[in-house]
Amino acid sequence: MIYITGDTHGVYNDLMYRIEKYSLGEDDILIVCGDFGFVKREDEYNYCLDKLSRLPFTIAFADGNHENFDLIEAYPVQEWNGGKVHQISENIFHMMRGQLFTIEDRTFFTMGGAYSIDKAFRREGISWWKQELPTNEDYKTASDTLKKCDYTVDYIITHTLPESVIYALGYFPDMHDRELTGFFEWLRGRAGFKYWFGGHFHVDKKIGNNYVLYEDVVKLNDIE
Ligand SMILES: [Fe+2]
Repeated sequence: MIYITGDTHGVYNDLMYRIEKYSLGEDDILIVCGDFGFVKREDEYNYCLDKLSRLPFTIAFADGNHENFDLIEAYPVQEWNGGKVHQISENIFHMMRGQLFTIEDRTFFTMGGAYSIDKAFRREGISWWKQELPTNEDYKTASDTLKKCDYTVDYIITHTLPESVIYALGYFPDMHDRELTGFFEWLRGRAGFKYWFGGHFHVDKKIGNNYVLYEDVVKLNDIE
């Protein structure tokens, strides 16, 4: 079974509380829509990553803006279910940007990243990384992937959201990641998809076929 949730920010107990009622087992996959946050410096409680690595189920995350990209990028790039990942441990995978994964006969397009509005209070390489926003190469990869599948996927997994969904939440898209939210808005109109899952805004709300997730966990079988 596939389950999807929002930002986890490296907080183990919070994640366990969210998924407690589902009793995930070795055939289950939990997808996190960015701000996974468990890949940390060694002096920052990364024993939580070790604990996650011993769980029976698989965790696959798109990146958010609060990730240690330098550490994530140091893990080997592998192919997993048809798309590229950084393999963090035997059961934990970072779903790279612009990839298409086929899991349990469903296709997932992933495009992480977002702008940190609290960037001014963070330190580069310690609590902020410039890789938080997609590069031109990431957009090119995304474009190539989308052309190959004729812009038709089952699900889209991102961290931030299309502009119109951000407006519907009552926010204004931030000018610093407008290239990304604008790309998502274009994709929202261009692509054929069943549901779009994102995080970033720390609210749980369904807007049309967009699930904005924070602490909620969506079991795909329940909404199909
Ligand atoms: Fe977050």
